[in-house]
Amino acid sequence: MNFQIIGTGSAHPACSKTNDDLSHLMETSDEWISTRTGIRSRYVSTGETLTELAVEASRKALENAGVPADELDLIICSTIRGDYITPSEACMVQRGIGASCPAFDVNAACSGFLYSLDVAAGYFARGRVKNVLLVSAEMMSKLVNWKDRATCVLFGDGAGAVVLTQGEGLLSMKLTAQGGAEMLSIPHVEGNSPFCPTEPAPPYLLMDGHGVYRFAVASMERDILDVLAEANLTLGDVSYVLPHQANLRIIEAGRKKLGLPPERVLSNINRHGNMSSACIPTLMDESNRAGLFRRGDILVLSAFGSGLTSAACVLRW
Ligand code: ACO
Repeated sequence: MNFQIIGTGSAHPACSKTNDDLSHLMETSDEWISTRTGIRSRYVSTGETLTELAVEASRKALENAGVPADELDLIICSTIRGDYITPSEACMVQRGIGASCPAFDVNAACSGFLYSLDVAAGYFARGRVKNVLLVSAEMMSKLVNWKDRATCVLFGDGAGAVVLTQGEGLLSMKLTAQGGAEMLSIPHVEGNSPFCPTEPAPPYLLMDGHGVYRFAVASMERDILDVLAEANLTLGDVSYVLPHQANLRIIEAGRKKLGLPPERVLSNINRHGNMSSACIPTLMDESNRAGLFRRGDILVLSAFGSGLTSAACVLRW
């Protein structure tokens, strides 16, 4: 026994900034950003909290599923950084939607939605839960250095959520981690301990863009082939791939290596940028609400990110 996805939701801040808008803040251009990344605009918070976005996405997913908040048995939130170090973001969502079940966070950076699906699968396998809310929420605009044009233009803010119930929708899952902060990291904001007078690193995202690119393309191809093999399926069985939305060039390189037609690999990076773990559930919600998925469709999810982590899974819709 594992789970079936029965509802989806997503939310983003009201303010959308185009590449041209950013070119008034720094030396960049729509041409540079869009040709290298596929991004045309991204949503950025001008006051919305992460909790507001996560609660809105969760409410929509619960409504879509027809499950009242008081029938949830567990809430998992994937995020790089909640509104507080403690309480967890999942606890803030629990209060916001009026639920009373256990709630905790998972941090696996951009792979967080898939890591959380795997955690949830364990609860279903142990018969501990009937309904689970999984929400991925990220506010990348507060974590990038707006003076570093090579990274700040890549990211956006948002939240995506799914409601899971008992079922047999998860066909296979793979998670990987290769620990280290060299390629991609965000240092912590430090306290003011008088006992440790070292100079803290600036708390902004640092990335070796070329290194992450190579890791991402290699992981996407390898992980997708591995989870399909584990599910006894082939690329020909795949209805849609929902890849992490880091860069359209990464998605295209992975797609070509796998030999998949463009219409079977979904993307919304042009409007959202990279929202870390919120990318895949937001893409799933937008595709679901557009009526793209049919019952029985084979969906392959693939993500990669800081850690370095990667993950893929096969779902039957
Ligand atoms: N506007 C204009 N010029 C810029 C900008 C910008 N926003 N940013 C960098 N440049 C300049 C650089 O300064 C450099 O100039 P120089 O040649 O005079 O030194 C030039 O453009 C080329 O810079 P590169 O870093 O080599 O650019 P590249 O073509 O590799 O593209 C990018 C950079 C898009 C980040 C690419 O490395 C990439 O896609 N990496 C993958 C990583 C990724 O997408 N990560 C997402 C987050 S991580 C995650 O989600 C897992």
